[in-house]
Amino acid sequence: MSEQKIVREKLSAIKPPPPGGLDDVVAAQTALSLVDGENSALSYRGIAVQELAEKSNYEETVFLLWEGRLPGKKELEAFRNRLAGCRQISPEILDEMTRFPKTAHPMAFLRSMVSFLGACDPEAENLSATSLRTKAEKLTAVLPVILSAFFRIRQGLKPVVPHPGLMHAENFLYMMHGKKPEAEGARALDAYLILLADHGLNASTFAARVTCATESDMYSAVTSAIGTLKGVLHGAANQKAMEMFLEIGAPDKAEAYVLNKLAEKKKIMGFGHRVYKKKDPRAAVFRAIAGKMLMSAKDSAWMEIAGRVEKVMTERKKLQCNVDFYSAPVLYLLGFPVDFFTTVFAASRIAGWTGHVMEQLAHNRLIRPGADYTGPLDIPYITMEKRDLI
Ligand SMILES: CC(C)(COP(=O)(O)OP(=O)(O)OC[C@H]1O[C@@H](n2cnc3c(N)ncnc32)[C@H](O)[C@@H]1OP(=O)(O)O)[C@@H](O)C(=O)NCCC(=O)NCCS
Repeated sequence: MSEQKIVREKLSAIKPPPPGGLDDVVAAQTALSLVDGENSALSYRGIAVQELAEKSNYEETVFLLWEGRLPGKKELEAFRNRLAGCRQISPEILDEMTRFPKTAHPMAFLRSMVSFLGACDPEAENLSATSLRTKAEKLTAVLPVILSAFFRIRQGLKPVVPHPGLMHAENFLYMMHGKKPEAEGARALDAYLILLADHGLNASTFAARVTCATESDMYSAVTSAIGTLKGVLHGAANQKAMEMFLEIGAPDKAEAYVLNKLAEKKKIMGFGHRVYKKKDPRAAVFRAIAGKMLMSAKDSAWMEIAGRVEKVMTERKKLQCNVDFYSAPVLYLLGFPVDFFTTVFAASRIAGWTGHVMEQLAHNRLIRPGADYTGPLDIPYITMEKRDLI
């Protein structure tokens, strides 16, 4: 056999990925985070996320993502103070929130509100590095404020004014529930916010980069990202995973539930990943956090249900759980309503989205891929009179 033929046969034996997913396309350069599928690892600016989740806090992690290094004590204090200063919302924003349909999905609310914040910001069009940074801080600080306000408004309650002395994660829970959270809960949310803050060129970050690369504004980029995160194959998987746990209801029903879904060719939310084919490094951290929280809540049912679903999925489908699977019961135990789960994801990923916008605009080039045209060619135009005769 000729050498050429051997090469061609070898190439045809390699199963190409199904079309459309851009699996093997490198579409950007980033120094923010490394998603290492081969080694099941994720790091921000070179630091493993597990270490950040254990030793850092969200504010420090956001500084790291944006600045490329950990802050000094005074820098961190100044950064925290700036975020605290951005937590105030104007009466017109509060008014818009109270008029928003209470039945709207929180992700629809968030998408609209970020757009509204942009409409209210006279500096929205300013793409200078300083202005982008100011807007990144504003958005990161304010997302928990508007989300907790919507959570309360739709129950007929008054929004809680942010507490100037609390850390970002603590403040989020404080504004949701109107009381200072337990240390364990605040730590769990902090870890959640850290672990989801960035993730390479995931779908919503890609959407943000595509939008800002047209020299549109930061709010438009974040609005695009929120719309993209909203899908079940991306951010809404955490909501869907929790809905599944609730539907299963009891550990002894888990196996039959999963087998039925698989027989119907349905996907089990919280499993599989485009990059991590061996395991999602964040999943184990959430398994441990969820286990600890459930133990202290003396409520092991969710953990048992999750464990049984995981067992069937690894045995039958050889699929590992992803970040959304065990983080779902964590958010549930923290008192977030299930339909709010994806917005909490957004409140974390805002750091990554805005970081990527700043990175993209520092060396911008319009992102405009090609498409393989598969339609017909050279078709003559037929006038309406003749069309009716055909
Ligand atoms: C994340 C995800 C979109 C990755 O998709 P992908 O890389 O395009 O992989 P595919 O969807 O092509 O899946 C490959 C195979 O695994 C199966 N599969 C993937 N995820 C599955 C899941 N969660 N449940 C059941 N089967 C699954 C697919 O049906 C497909 O099987 P087939 O080859 O027999 O058709 C996909 O795993 C998924 O939909 N997961 C559920 C949603 C989710 O948890 N999203 C959050 C991601 S962090």
